[in-house]
Amino acid sequence: MRNLSLLIILIMGIQSQENRINCRDKDRTVSKPEEDLLELVNSIQGENITLQCHYCLETDDGEPKNWFKTYQPGLEEPKELVPDMDNDITLNRILVNTDHSLTIRHFNENDTGLYSCRKYQDEATTSEFNYFVDLVSVHNTTGKANDIPVNVLFLLHITIDVTSGNLTQWSKYHDENLSPINVLFDTSMGTEYLKARDELKLSMEAMTRWSKWGPCDACGRPKGEAIRKRTGECRIKLRSAFNETRALPRDEAVLSKLDQISCRSATLENVFPGMSNLTKIVPDFVLKESCEAVCEPDKDSENAGWKVGKSKGFKYRKTFVLAENSRLTVVCPESTLENKVAWEKRGKPIKPGDASYPHMYVDAFNTLYLEDVTSKEAGNYTCQVDDIKMQRIKVFVVTKSRFFTGELTRHIGYLAFILFLTVPCYVGGLIIAYWRRKTFKSYEELLKDNPDDAEADESAESLL
Ligand SMILES: *[C@@H]1O[C@H](CO)[C@@H](O)[C@H](O)[C@H]1NC(C)=O
Ligand SMILES: *[C@@H]1O[C@H](CO)[C@@H](O)[C@H](O)[C@H]1NC(C)=O
Ligand SMILES: *[C@@H]1O[C@H](CO)[C@@H](O)[C@H](O)[C@H]1NC(C)=O
Ligand SMILES: *[C@@H]1O[C@H](CO)[C@@H](O)[C@H](O)[C@H]1NC(C)=O
Ligand SMILES: *[C@@H]1O[C@H](CO)[C@@H](O)[C@H](O)[C@H]1NC(C)=O
Ligand SMILES: *[C@@H]1O[C@H](CO)[C@@H](O)[C@H](O)[C@H]1NC(C)=O
Ligand SMILES: *[C@@H]1O[C@H](CO)[C@@H](O)[C@H](O)[C@H]1NC(C)=O
Repeated sequence: MRNLSLLIILIMGIQSQENRINCRDKDRTVSKPEEDLLELVNSIQGENITLQCHYCLETDDGEPKNWFKTYQPGLEEPKELVPDMDNDITLNRILVNTDHSLTIRHFNENDTGLYSCRKYQDEATTSEFNYFVDLVSVHNTTGKANDIPVNVLFLLHITIDVTSGNLTQWSKYHDENLSPINVLFDTSMGTEYLKARDELKLSMEAMTRWSKWGPCDACGRPKGEAIRKRTGECRIKLRSAFNETRALPRDEAVLSKLDQISCRSATLENVFPGMSNLTKIVPDFVLKESCEAVCEPDKDSENAGWKVGKSKGFKYRKTFVLAENSRLTVVCPESTLENKVAWEKRGKPIKPGDASYPHMYVDAFNTLYLEDVTSKEAGNYTCQVDDIKMQRIKVFVVTKSRFFTGELTRHIGYLAFILFLTVPCYVGGLIIAYWRRKTFKSYEELLKDNPDDAEADESAESLL
């Protein structure tokens, strides 16, 4: 149920993004308007974030706007934000972009606070574009959390990661991870819990905050098993009845002003470190649901030109170097049984189930098999999915006898050059060198057949 790799992908997703864009959804579902005053943005240390001054999927209207920041909401008036003004734009950490969005680079704890964007000299209206930006900790992915009961995890302080499953499994996740915490919130006599309930008049509830559904993904799955996903983030719902006139310390004031906060929030940790020790290790939950869709190959790069007739290139290209008598199995990328998959060798179709070639066949699931290969199986194979030129495979077959001669050692060296160097003139030079060598005819033929050998994005694999 718990899926380590998912989180690793998630974290890599965050880290590989140079700048995370945040915007407000125009048609968000709101139960109570007072719970919808701001968008909570959870940011990790060192991250770059951008806050937009318009709704998601809309563009800026071009009117002048100002950003305001409140570090201590409820304790101080919002101050107009002065962006960094260095002439060298790369030195500016906080900047307002031409579409009036605000970018904060290398986010740190002093950047937390309430940010709002308002139209210039428009004092009457309250802003729609309010963001509370909070610092959150990152999950630790090294803990092997799969089979350890959650209560033991709490004791060991091992952080766990994204969990995934269907609604039944989410319910179990809720019972195991969130319910015990909610019992503590309501009944624990620990000092932190008493402080929250009696002093700050804070009622707290751990919950799951769902993102929107992702696209329905049918590629690479059996018919009728397409799935879509959405992420349920662990958050704590806050409701404060604090009505004393005395001023609270900053982080406590923030908790009494917000209506929810991340389970991994640094603000929560500053006020309630013990509570935070329990909540920050709760993994997020990826909910999966079946949906109806057909795989549309090349959907994401509709006009990239892989379609038949538009380009002579193939979307994927791969080179294999096989030893004689070895085998190779290849599945055409981005295809399912729903698609029409056509394999060819040097322009001649290989029909599924056709047994007329002794060492080469395509099965009913469109997988290409090369068995017990000989030099006859070397060459250029292609597969097409519907009308997309999907993959070209070049197969080189090396005979064992040659493999063990000293000459061949040198030969393999040249071959490695050809496969891995991407500069065409190198390859050209090597091809000429080959012509003079005369001893390895099958390679020469292949190289003459494949003048475009040095494509930059070609991947090569030696199965010797
Ligand atoms: C933040 O932005 C700067 C400048 O655009 C970039 O050099 C840096 O790699 C970014 N940092 C992260 C964590 O993406
Ligand atoms: C945050 O502000 C405090 C007080 O001004 C300062 O001591 C600290 O170095 C700042 N932290 C960062 C990461 O800039
Ligand atoms: C993650 O947790 C493991 C085991 O609990 C620990 O050894 C490791 O130092 C932690 N890594 C980070 C980056 O905190
Ligand atoms: C959820 O998944 C479990 C295990 O994969 C399965 O036994 C159960 O029937 C599923 N529940 C629903 C509502 O699909
Ligand atoms: C605060 O609320 C309590 C009950 O909710 C009420 O009795 C009390 O008068 C309030 N105090 C102030 C200063 O409003
Ligand atoms: C929270 O966990 C840390 C490290 O796991 C520990 O040092 C600290 O004492 C804990 N804090 C509380 C209040 O339990
Ligand atoms: C490989 O074969 C395909 C036809 O299946 C052909 O279009 C393509 O030009 C060939 N590539 C080379 C480099 O010979």
